[in-house]
Amino acid sequence: MARSYKHMETSVIHEGYDSKEMLGSLTTPLFQTSTYTFDTAEQGERRFAGEEEGYIYSRLGNPTVKVLEERIAALENGERGLAFGSGMAAVSAVLIALTKANDHVLCSVGLYGCTFGLLSMMKEKYNISHSFSTMETEEEIRSQIKPETTCIYVETPINPTMKLIDLEMVARVAKEYDIPVVVDNTFASPYLQNPLELGCDVVLHSATKYIGGHGDVIAGLVVGKKEFLDEVAMTTLKDIGGVMSPFDAWLLLRGLKTLPVRVDRHCDNAEEIFKRLKSHPNVEAVYYPGDNTHPDYHIMKKQMRRGGGVISFEIKGTKQDAQQFLNNLSFLKIAVSLGDAETLIEHPATMTHAVVPGDSQRDMGITDQLIRLSVGLEAWQDIWQDLEQALNKITVSLDAYSKA
Ligand SMILES: Cc1ncc(COP(=O)(O)O)c(C=O)c1O
Repeated sequence: MARSYKHMETSVIHEGYDSKEMLGSLTTPLFQTSTYTFDTAEQGERRFAGEEEGYIYSRLGNPTVKVLEERIAALENGERGLAFGSGMAAVSAVLIALTKANDHVLCSVGLYGCTFGLLSMMKEKYNISHSFSTMETEEEIRSQIKPETTCIYVETPINPTMKLIDLEMVARVAKEYDIPVVVDNTFASPYLQNPLELGCDVVLHSATKYIGGHGDVIAGLVVGKKEFLDEVAMTTLKDIGGVMSPFDAWLLLRGLKTLPVRVDRHCDNAEEIFKRLKSHPNVEAVYYPGDNTHPDYHIMKKQMRRGGGVISFEIKGTKQDAQQFLNNLSFLKIAVSLGDAETLIEHPATMTHAVVPGDSQRDMGITDQLIRLSVGLEAWQDIWQDLEQALNKITVSLDAYSKA
């Protein structure tokens, strides 16, 4: 669905919904129903045979969910959108649709822990192999494509290291081999980055994060070509069954209306916090795409509107110091997830990426000292005050650290 409005700020509010068709209701009505009645047995037969348009059963389609699917399709500039019960339901439906036994998936170095877990399971059960590439150059990508590669799967910004991948370059190389490129766009949100416009084939989101934005929904969204998503809708979505509930779609439609306002504020706050983290003596390194000394800053400028709301940083000290730092925070919340109004902070090595074995964690750049911070919508001064007082308390192992 092409965007009907010139500006994303208007699209997030109006796409896919016409109040005239819904008795003038300003907000999208919540169709909280599992099934739909047929006027006659013959009508039921026609609907199942696909000879007549209309709803049948909410696992196959629901009017509230449909508005959300049309809205996300417009925001990502794709032909069709599909809604799922979680980000992982979306990831698994897409990966299963694009592979069969003995195929190969080429991935970015660094993936969300459960995506890594899913790929490991697919290898064990169906011999669908995967390998990791930095995707830094065209040659690097070409050298890792195999005859059995059926999908290139990329996260950017990468969770939790905040490295970036040049999507336009990956899409260009993939086209030479006719391999679809799938992008997990969760960290950027559709407001900051639109992978389909850069030539990629499928974009997916954990809508749990910035799209929902209020920490009250688990959900996933996918956008891509109609032909591919029609197939997903009738196979890995319908038959595996990871569908979105109408109420969650209703909450996401509400959350989406403020996406640009929220994400701009997340970015403003993250920029302030980044500067201060960078000069704190107990911080070893800070990873933020909006940093003009970040090695991938040129990619950020090319494909993202701004640097986003997530910052990762390494503290000086040990794993225990990292944990003690989290324990010393006063009002900032220790929690996984991101993109919520509340600032959330976590320890990837033992939380979101705990399923990734130690060696692979090191390859992905996940150390025991790494902290992931999703900067919330509170006043940045309050966020910094809490972070600073907890950082100042990291003294226990610092002596040993400086002698090492
Ligand atoms: C980058 C990324 N992709 C996918 C997921 C999975 O989404 P969900 O938790 O909604 O299933 C997450 C969850 O944290 C994530 O960070």
